[in-house]
This record gives sequence, C-alpha cells and structure tokens, in this order.
Amino acid sequence: MKLQLFDKQVYTDRRNILKQTIGQDGIILLLGNEDSSMNYKDNCYPFRQDSTFLYYFGLDVQNLAAIIDTDTGEEVVFGNELTIDDIIWTGTLPTVHEMAGLVGVTQTKPLDQILHYVHKALIAGRKVHILPPYRPENRIKLATWFNVSLADVQDHVSVKLIKAVIAQRVIKTPLEIQEMEKAVDISVDMQLAVIKATRPGIKEYELVAIANEVALAANGRLGYGAIITTHGQTLHTHYYGNILQDGNMVLSDIGAENDMHYGGDLTRTFPVGRSFTSKQKELYEVVLNSMNHAISLLKPGIRYKDIHLAACQKLVEGLKQVNLMKGDAAEAVAAGAHTMFFQCGLGHMLGMDTHDMEDLGEPYVGYTDTLKKETVFGLKSLRLGRELEAGYILTVEPGIYIIPELIDRWKAENKYADFINYDVLNTYRDFSGIRIEDNFLITDTGSHLLGKYLPKTLKEIEGLRG
Ligand code: GLY
Ligand code: MN
Ligand code: MN
Repeated sequence: MKLQLFDKQVYTDRRNILKQTIGQDGIILLLGNEDSSMNYKDNCYPFRQDSTFLYYFGLDVQNLAAIIDTDTGEEVVFGNELTIDDIIWTGTLPTVHEMAGLVGVTQTKPLDQILHYVHKALIAGRKVHILPPYRPENRIKLATWFNVSLADVQDHVSVKLIKAVIAQRVIKTPLEIQEMEKAVDISVDMQLAVIKATRPGIKEYELVAIANEVALAANGRLGYGAIITTHGQTLHTHYYGNILQDGNMVLSDIGAENDMHYGGDLTRTFPVGRSFTSKQKELYEVVLNSMNHAISLLKPGIRYKDIHLAACQKLVEGLKQVNLMKGDAAEAVAAGAHTMFFQCGLGHMLGMDTHDMEDLGEPYVGYTDTLKKETVFGLKSLRLGRELEAGYILTVEPGIYIIPELIDRWKAENKYADFINYDVLNTYRDFSGIRIEDNFLITDTGSHLLGKYLPKTLKEIEGLRG
C-alpha cells in the first residue's frame, strides 16, 4: 500500500476549504477504516480505507481517525504505534507522527484519546460533526464515544458536514481527473481482454478471472464485484457459474480501482459467438441510440433526471419500432411503462467510490433540498437527479432488461396494457439484458469521455469478436 496518496499540500488545502465551509462550529471527527475479518480474526477482506478519510487525510493505513477543530484550527491524527507482534507478522510502518506529517498534520495522539476529545467537546456544549457510519466497527465506536445505542448514532450524524464534504468531493480537480482517466483506462483493458477471451464453452468465472488479472497486473483491483453474466437481465448478479453458449450474449459490467483508489465503471454487452442475432442487434441499437442521446445532452445546468427521462423516451421510441411497445412515447414514460424494460436509473456519480459518496446518502449526493428523489418504481432507483455542474464525473448506462417474472406479474395485472405489447414481449422471455455504460466528466460546455475509447457500436463489437 502507498502510505499517502497525493502531495501533502493537497490535503492541507482540502481541509482548509472544509474548515471554511463549516465555519467556527465545533469539531469534525473523521474515522478511517480497520481491517474487516472474513471468517476469523486474522483472515481479512482486502483493506479499503474510507474514501472521505482518504480525501482529507490521504493515509491508506488501518486504524486511524482524525479530528479537525473548526474553532481553533487544530488538526489531530489519532492512531496507535505498531506493537512488536504487528511488526513481526505484518511488517513495519513509519510512526503515526511521521505518517501524519506526510499529509501536513503535526499533532498526533493514541487512538483512545478520541474519547477524551469527544467528551470534552460534548460537555462544553460544542458540536461534534460525524458522517454516517457504514461499517459496524465504526458504528460501535461512535455509539461508545457518544454514549448512545447503536441505533441512535444516526441522530448524531451531521447533515452540515455531509453537505460540506459532498460539495467538495463532487467537483473533481485536475489531479483527480487524471487518476480517473487512468482507472478507466485499466477498466477498458479489462473489458477488451474479457471480450476477446469470450467463446462458446467458456464459463463466466473464467472471464471474471481475466478481469481480475488485468486489474491486478496494473496494480489495481476491481472497484466492485464483477457483473459478468449471460443473464444480463439481473442488474447486479454476482453468480458466475454459467457456461456460455453460442447465440447468447454476455453482459460485462466491470471497473478497476487504481492504486490511488479512483475507479472506473464500464459495461459492454456482446455476443458469445462472433455476431449478434438480428433480434439482439435490434435491441442493442435501441439502447445505443438512447445512450448517444443522453450523452449529447450532458452539460452544466441540465438536471440529470431530465436526461434520464429523455433517455427513457428514446428507449420507448426504439421499443415501439420493434413492436414491443405502443402508444405515445412521452405518455408511456410519464406513466412509467418503460420500466418494464428499464427498471433502474441512467447513472450515478463516480469517483473513489463506484457509486460515489453513496455512504453519505443519496438524498444529498444525487439530489438537493429542492429536488427530492421520487419513490415510484424506476425513479426510486435513479441515484442521480440533480442539476449538473462542471467537474462532476458520472456514468451513463441505459439498458433493456427482459425479466420474465416482471412480465408475468404485470401481465396478470394488465399493467400498462396501453403501452406494452405483451404478446410480442412473451417471445422475448429468454432474451436476457443489454447495458452499455461509459464514464464522463462534465466540462464547462458539455462532456468529456473518460479513458480510452472502448468499442461500442454493433460493428465495432463484432469486430472484436472476429
Ligand atoms: N457497476 C454498478 C453500476 O453500474 O451501478
Ligand atoms: Mn454504473
Ligand atoms: Mn456498472
């Protein structure tokens, strides 16, 4: 592991901005992550530092925490020195004080001193700002320090801090954009290797192994569990046991997290054999047209929700052409009929986290006080709705997913019968799904595709399979 990611000035500047945003209003407590056991204490999942801790303190090391006192400006990194047993079994590290110095912090204390800081602040009636914990270990620590139940930790989460962190992390700096380009480049290489290795008879898990190999060889890893499947209609399946058969398609949704912990998130859908069937081609074109339309709309000032709805309308227009849908496309989308085919959202923020900052809460990352997330089927799964700004990095990932269970359920209810041709749809029951996904930076005037171009037209994809 790299101890610290960028130059120390980057972190000092980021913390200064955070202090300015919060103003003189108590202390900010940020927790790093610890190792998480897989099946017994010493056998852990690969370590992943908390992204917000990385953003402000850059130290890719277990068992650290930090406090920023917004009234005095004091910054403290908390951590314990390694024991001789730690050094014997897992190796040595610089001292906590040396590590803190790498990110511009001069004060360090043992971990158990946090309790003292938190209590002192609470007794003095000062605010202690915390973010929502997503790991049980950190929730337990917070409950202990605040002397509340695990469930009540939630009441101490600071919306002010959440908003301040998101406002900063959501705008990617040139340094970060560079890392995103690298991460997406590795992701492109993973996709190319997977697409080229695909052939009838190969198992899904063999393709997953290839994706991992490319990521590891670039000193990265997968940023999320690979979705490499012949059952592309299952949005986030992690089952890899199927044998690929000619005539079927593979949906490959994979992304590398690079050594600086920025990640890509790409999807391609391609034939197991050399070419798509005509039915597959037709629906692939529908998805690609929707995607291209969405991309053409990317620019500051437009709500992503509106791009999502425009992409949905394009899908419906295409689905009408192949007789799967009928009626007025705009009315179909307004009614929600397209969700028979596209049950999720068009995309999400991307950065150090695949769903960037989702731990801080979708209402704040993807929406605003004036634009709330909707609760209806379809829009409830749109993670990003807010107006775009230059510096955002996001995914565009339309799809068509034919889910037999959904067909049966809605047909029995006669749901959307004015818009869906159920008789035709029944002949597509085994079609599976298509998703195409790329990653974009919002620029002052439009958007920029991150990473190397990854073939996506029918002809280009078939070219790779030749
Ligand atoms: N790879 C997960 C997603 O596209 O949201
Ligand atoms: Mn995605
Ligand atoms: Mn994806």
